[in-house]
Parts: sequence; C-alpha cells; structure tokens
Amino acid sequence: MTFDSLWDDLAGIGRDGRRGGFSRHGFDDAELTMREWFTEQADRRGLGVHADGNGNLWAWWGAPASGAVVTGSHLDSVPGGGAFDGPLGVVSALLALDALRARGFRPARPLAVVVFAEEEGGRFGVPCLGSRLLTGALAPCAALGLTDPDGVTLASALGRAGLDPERVGADAAVLARIGTFVELHVEQGRGLVTLDAAVGVAASILAHGRWRLSFSGEGNHAGTTALGDRRDPVLPAAQTVLAARWSASTVDGARATVGRIVANPGGTNVIASTVDVWLDARAPSTSDARAVVDDIVAAGHRAAASEGCVLTVREESYSDTVVFDAALRDRMSAALGGAPVLPTGAGHDAGILAAAGVPAAMVFVRNPTGVSHAPAEHAERSDCLAGVDALTAVLAHLTS
Ligand code: HGY
Ligand code: MN
Ligand code: MN
Repeated sequence: MTFDSLWDDLAGIGRDGRRGGFSRHGFDDAELTMREWFTEQADRRGLGVHADGNGNLWAWWGAPASGAVVTGSHLDSVPGGGAFDGPLGVVSALLALDALRARGFRPARPLAVVVFAEEEGGRFGVPCLGSRLLTGALAPCAALGLTDPDGVTLASALGRAGLDPERVGADAAVLARIGTFVELHVEQGRGLVTLDAAVGVAASILAHGRWRLSFSGEGNHAGTTALGDRRDPVLPAAQTVLAARWSASTVDGARATVGRIVANPGGTNVIASTVDVWLDARAPSTSDARAVVDDIVAAGHRAAASEGCVLTVREESYSDTVVFDAALRDRMSAALGGAPVLPTGAGHDAGILAAAGVPAAMVFVRNPTGVSHAPAEHAERSDCLAGVDALTAVLAHLTS
C-alpha cells in the first residue's frame, strides 16, 4: 500500500462542487464513507477496529491495553476544506504501521491509530467534539442536543451512524489506555517554509474559542420602511465584525475572525429580523483571548442599542492555551534529528488530550503556501513521505 494509493482512495469522497475542496462533516454521508474506508484499511492490516461511545474510531495493533502509543487525527473537514487537514495524519499513521511491520518491528508497547470524531465542529459547531467528550471536557447533556444547520441533533446523527447516544460521555478506561498520543498534521502556516524543514514538532496551541452573537431587531419591508423607523440587526452585526478585527489588532498575536453570518429570513427585499454572527477568537493567553472577546461583545452591545436591537451571546467552545509536554517534545525533536519546534494557532485533538493530562505531541508537515481550511491547502508529496518517515521513527522510538 503506497501513499498515493491511499491518497487516491480519498480524493473523490466529499468533494464540494459549490465551494471547491471537500465538505465532510461529523457523521454525514461523506464522513461516514471516510470512516468505512478507514475501517477497511484497518481490517486489511488485521488491526482490531471499533468505535468508542463518542464515535471515535480505534484501530489496535495488539490487544487494547494501557500505556499504548496512539497516533492518528481526524477525517472530517471544514466546509470547502483542503485535502490534508486531518486525512494526512490518518494516512500517515497507517503507512507508519506498515513500515514498522515491513521491517519486522515488534512494538514493546501496544500501538493504535485513532480517528477522532467531528474535529472541525463543521456540523455541530463544537470543535474536537469526539476528544472533548472522551476526556470529559464536554458533558453529554451539552452535546447530544447540539443541532446541525438542518436541525438534526447529534443524538440522531449518532443513531443514524449505528452508534448509541446513551454511550456518549467521558471514558476513563479508554483514556487510560493512551500512554502517549502523537498526531501528524499538515502545518497550517508557513513556519516550516521559513525554517526550511520538511517536518517539525509542535510547541503550543493558541487559546481559542467560538462565540455565537445573535442580533435581533424587527423584520420589515425594505421598500416601505423609512430609515428612521427601522431596527435592522444587520447594521450592528456589520459594526461588530469590524470591531472584531480592530480589537484583535490591539493585542499581540491575537486573531478574531467572522467567517459565518446568517441573516434571517434572508430575503433581498426584507429587513432582517435576526442576524447570527459566529466569532472565532484566539490569542497567546486566555486573559488576552477573553479580553479581545469582551471588547468585541461590548462593541456589539453598543451597536445593537444604537439601532434599537438586542444582542445575545453564547460561548460555543473554548480551549485554553496548550503547551505540549516539553520532555516529549524534545524527545521527538531529537528522534527526528533536531527537527524544529514551532507553535501553532490551530486547535487539534492533541491539544484536547494534552489539556486532559495525556502526554501528547504533534509532528507538522511543511505546507508550501501555509494556506489551510481552503481548497488550496497543500503539501508536496516528498514532504508527505518525509512525514511518514518521521512518524515511523517517532513511533519506533516511543515503542522500543
Ligand atoms: O479551527 C482549528 O483551529 C482547527 O483546524 N480545528
Ligand atoms: Mn482544521
Ligand atoms: Mn485538523
């Protein structure tokens, strides 16, 4: 099995003809097809594969046991996402096991590949859903009622995927099996380009969260309603989007993004009654991230009041800054001949596990443009193969 053959298997799954790229979201048809592919690949390798209560897929080389070295990533995408974010880590994990077996390697510790559920939160809005549920960072009662844009609940999506919603929740036994977690991921930035290295090791993840800002006004006719008689929620929404960029620009290393706005009911000749704005904010520290969000929300309330509208805010997810285990990080760098160590602004399941006390690390693969969460996301084949070699070396090092 070669990289190209595995990569080609995935090339046609979940292609998004409207947005470009791929749209594969938690337990939707495309992502279920990706899961079937993974299960088939695991079966071919004689790996024992099963889903845990939270829909994360586990493929074990040997019997599941504690102290295992686990690698893997996710198979879901953002809407119109690139090919590499997630799948590169899963394909590389399968090929790393193949390489170890091909040379007769016998791991001294159990080895497993995991596919975490709904890492992007592209369907139900909470990123790293599977790992948050597994670690207890998210309670079942806060998750099962989550709905997708069509109103489908997570509970029913799980049921449709053949999973039992009653099994959702923290699973200490599954978590205890993970002695070390290593996630390979395409870099979502140009750090390795600047460092002129094919692979690198993660140092940290920015604090980051998502907030839903709902502006409500008065729906009305676009032609018969004088400007002075309006309570148009689109106006404070627009001012808040601008405030987000301004607030983030005042804090070193902070980012604030609005990539999703929904005006209801959405008629061209209709003054909206409500507007939902989703804010993604990130910063080097929680205090910075919270300060940026507080500033944006205050601006939103001011703008809403000036238009006779009301703003309600709901925090949908939050992750504190993650600093990966320094000893493990340095062991990984050394095992990779002194691979550079670099931070990331992207959240990952490895960060959720690290926050839960699991020794976790990441291997990044160079992305020539740094573009991610877009169809242009890319990694050169030679760098992908360097990533497989790096993951193979790290797994051998950790299980010797
Ligand atoms: O949004 C993120 O940082 C990650 O790609 N889920
Ligand atoms: Mn992503
Ligand atoms: Mn990812």
